[in-house]
Amino acid sequence: MWSDLESVGRVSSGGYRRFAWTAEDHTLREWFAGECARRGLDVTEDRVGNQWGWWWDGPGTVDEAVATGRKAVVTGSHLDSVPDGGAFDGPLGVVCALTAVDQLRAAGITPQVPVAVTNFVDEEGARFGIACAGSRVLTGQLDPATALALTDADGTSYADALRSAGRGPETFGPDPEMLRRVGAFVELHVEQGRALVDLDAPVAVASDIWPHGRWRFDFPGEANHAGTTRLEDRRDAMLGYADLVLGARQVATQRGCVATVGKVRVTPGGVNAIPSHVTGWLDARGADEEQVVAMVDELTAGARETGAAVTRESWTPTTRFDQRLSDRLRRVLDRDAEVSAPVLGTGAGHDAGILATAGIPSAMLFVRNPTGVSHSPAEHAEREDCLAGVAALTECLRDLTTG
Ligand code: GLV
Ligand code: MN
Ligand code: MN
Ligand code: MN
Repeated sequence: MWSDLESVGRVSSGGYRRFAWTAEDHTLREWFAGECARRGLDVTEDRVGNQWGWWWDGPGTVDEAVATGRKAVVTGSHLDSVPDGGAFDGPLGVVCALTAVDQLRAAGITPQVPVAVTNFVDEEGARFGIACAGSRVLTGQLDPATALALTDADGTSYADALRSAGRGPETFGPDPEMLRRVGAFVELHVEQGRALVDLDAPVAVASDIWPHGRWRFDFPGEANHAGTTRLEDRRDAMLGYADLVLGARQVATQRGCVATVGKVRVTPGGVNAIPSHVTGWLDARGADEEQVVAMVDELTAGARETGAAVTRESWTPTTRFDQRLSDRLRRVLDRDAEVSAPVLGTGAGHDAGILATAGIPSAMLFVRNPTGVSHSPAEHAEREDCLAGVAALTECLRDLTTG
């Protein structure tokens, strides 16, 4: 995995395609369980299927420790990817978490609270459309029945995907018992922009996640012949969609937000047939929640005027990470440093944000990405910066588990 991270992160064409509950996901889940087992970590799964590798040498069981106020310190990330994604988004946080455990052990540290390494399932939402589905269902922020009814591009439901992966959907749902174990969650992640390059720093502490959401726009039309249908007789679903794409760029510019239409489905999808239906998905984000909402309202109103139906698929308001925990991480990072670790907000969503919303003290560390590119094979992190990230995470875990 580590050598994959290094070599695949450098290639500039092709990329990873690891969707939730597919064969690739299964391979990675086995890999994760194997890596945990190799370290003697006790692997469990919550009711959603998120994986947890526990390190606790006692006294008593993890639950007994939790019952006496010694809640776990948890670290990890996800192993799924967007279509043709990079090598670092997700896996870096998992690999660094496992390595940090190794480092603590090598240093002879005995944690005073249980430690767990996690692999959250379906962070990207690439298959079923809702990002962080694993942590949302876990924390009760996504209704399990809604999640199970989601379908992928082939029409396979989430419930059937679970069945194909050998899991019954019967137990799928929130897992407050698992969450009760967690005292703090720290997710290390490759930075997904250029801030650390500009600041000339290898590692940052996160402050907040921008509000963000996904909307589905359905534009109706009428299929007809591309050669024989007069322009004035056409009902071309593509035109409303084109307005959405250009409008998104324009309104985002005016309102200081970002908007992306990165996925589209055209029916019937023939070069010589006028589209009878176009579905486009809008991803909207920005630092200012009011502006994001206003942007989407404006685009929605415009699309509805052309007869489109608009459905909100997900919405996550501004998420602030736990101030005390983040300050503590920053103090640890600054201990022997000449300059203070930067504090960064981000436009990317993360499971740590979902846990933070659920009231679990959560924080994040970002590792510099020299390309500033993410959700693409060009995503990268230098080995030296990854090691700085591991060192930072190790020291944070040492502080949180022994301090
Ligand atoms: C997930 O990584 C997202 O921010 O879309
Ligand atoms: Mn991502
Ligand atoms: Mn990620
Ligand atoms: Mn993400």
